[in-house]
Amino acid sequence: MAANSPTIPYLIVIFLTYISRLMPTLGNPNPWTNLLPAKLQTLQVANRLRDDPDAIKLASTDYGNIVREIPAAVLYPSSVNDIASLIKFAHTSSTPFTIAARGQGHSVRGQAMARNGVVVDMTSLKNHRNGYGITVSWSPSMGFYADVGGEQLWVDVLHATLEHGLAPVSWTDYLYITVGGTLSNAGIGGQTFRYGPQISNVYEMDVINGKGDFVTCSPQKNTKLFHAVLGGLGQFGIIARARIVLEPSPKRVKWVRMLYNDFSAFARDQEHLVSINGRKQKNALDYLEGLLLMDQGPPDNWRSSFFPLSDHSRIIALVTKYGIIYCLEVAKFYDDRSINSVDKELQNMFEGMSFIPGYKFEKDISYVDFLNRVRSGELKLQSQGLWDVPHPWLNLFVPKSQISDFNSGVFKDIVFNRNITTGPVLVYPLNRSKWDDRMSAVVPDEDVFYTIGFLHSSGFDDWKALDVLNKEILLFCYNAGIEVKQYLPKYYRTKEEWKKHFGKKWRTFQERKYQFDPKMILSPGQRIFNDN
Ligand SMILES: Cc1cc2nc3c(=O)[nH]c(=O)nc-3n(C[C@H](O)[C@H](O)[C@H](O)COP(=O)(O)OP(=O)(O)OC[C@H]3O[C@@H](n4cnc5c(N)ncnc54)[C@H](O)[C@@H]3O)c2cc1C
Ligand SMILES: *[C@@H]1O[C@H](CO)[C@@H](O)[C@H](O)[C@H]1NC(C)=O
Ligand SMILES: *[C@@H]1O[C@H](CO)[C@@H](O)[C@H](O)[C@H]1NC(C)=O
Repeated sequence: MAANSPTIPYLIVIFLTYISRLMPTLGNPNPWTNLLPAKLQTLQVANRLRDDPDAIKLASTDYGNIVREIPAAVLYPSSVNDIASLIKFAHTSSTPFTIAARGQGHSVRGQAMARNGVVVDMTSLKNHRNGYGITVSWSPSMGFYADVGGEQLWVDVLHATLEHGLAPVSWTDYLYITVGGTLSNAGIGGQTFRYGPQISNVYEMDVINGKGDFVTCSPQKNTKLFHAVLGGLGQFGIIARARIVLEPSPKRVKWVRMLYNDFSAFARDQEHLVSINGRKQKNALDYLEGLLLMDQGPPDNWRSSFFPLSDHSRIIALVTKYGIIYCLEVAKFYDDRSINSVDKELQNMFEGMSFIPGYKFEKDISYVDFLNRVRSGELKLQSQGLWDVPHPWLNLFVPKSQISDFNSGVFKDIVFNRNITTGPVLVYPLNRSKWDDRMSAVVPDEDVFYTIGFLHSSGFDDWKALDVLNKEILLFCYNAGIEVKQYLPKYYRTKEEWKKHFGKKWRTFQERKYQFDPKMILSPGQRIFNDN
């Protein structure tokens, strides 16, 4: 009797579904044709969807290596039209599904994932651009600029523009991430204090919004969408093209680091350098950052190898003596014309600064090697199997008026005492006037604020301890009334927390969402409008 019961195959299906949940890396047990509306199969774009284990595996992991969300399918677009028709279909379907652009998947908590939806593998576009992925032009009103596909890597933008003796002005520390990915966040680094973040250096974009419309936007045209998308965490549209500001490129770089044991002296000097170099005057510093040196082995790490080997032991001795050493890092670009004056200019600029005497280090390298400095560290870690480990990163913006409380409460009392931090900790001030408040990116409400980056890497089992550390840091800030904003935000669980993050920008952010992506289709992994 029971043998003929229709419940047996049914139970088997349930059992298999259960087993496959336990083994998510085997791929999606359900073909996308079961998960997405059947009508999708009648569209041309369906030919470019994949749900084989390789495709699913890639789209359900990211650099963070912590979160895993299985999509129904991955779109490998052969044109911008493919993306537009998929979004248009989802938008008009009676059962909408989510869609997330994936640049390099270098997010750390699933921001480019889409559970049961479609992940768009942006890099696939590169093979179909017919040499038009990056083009350089000039116009009387804009000067030199590059039109760049949203899927392009910044390192490729660098090489393509250098062929014309030009380069973008604002960079991230690491270049193997996409233009669309960094413009969805802000894109910050050592040039931001002077030129603003990458989102401040865009003239125009082509965007496919959440209704599947292809829209060209700029500060003059479709302004709302332009401002929404920049720093918009992928919520309003997929960036198909961005027009990026270019300037003549230098050839070489003087790269300098100075060590401090006193935080207030370090911060004072950093802020001084930011204020005297903040305009676009000719002989200004081109780069300014800062980092902590703590008791965790050699003073160099993957982010850059800098200190001469012969100095390692005396630097380690200094770190052991003081616990935390603050390292101010600047660079000045030069070329044949300024080769004779660059040292003198730097010397003048450093006059009156209070780093520890004898602890100023200099390096002279090519412009490309400087901008691409993180790559060699990456390759080394890759060869040791240490690049694809969990990365429970925490990135924060801290108002200048509270940075000293942050130093004593977080760096000294939490981070130093717990002594579990592995990886670089970055600290440097930025000038708020270089940010455009109409854009979606969120920064503290003070003229100067610090960016803090805890770029942790961990073993496969112990990322949770670092996650606890991050939460402890956030809790401390909350209790001490330090008004931090998260960058690449990820520690928000509820709508209330997102509201607080956006502050007075929340209403606009939400209105723009209703306008440009009313069905809440795009980038669900940010978990602002979707639980995902
Ligand atoms: C080693 C390393 C160093 C880094 N250094 C810096 C740094 O110095 N400064 C800095 O600012 N950041 C830095 N980042 C963070 C980086 O900016 C983010 O990871 C960012 O998300 C870019 O990565 P991605 O191109 O892989 O984007 P993804 O992770 O693929 O996507 C990020 C978000 O943007 C959306 N998205 C992707 N492409 C598009 C598009 N074309 N249009 C619209 N939305 C899109 C995605 O859906 C997702 O929500 C670093 C990251 C790593 C791993
Ligand atoms: C910030 O930048 C603006 C514009 O360049 C400049 O006028 C101002 O002095 C800068 N402020 C600080 C504190 O550096
Ligand atoms: C911190 O941890 C490292 C590595 O585990 C250890 O070598 C070092 O002595 C510790 N430092 C302090 C101050 O406890």
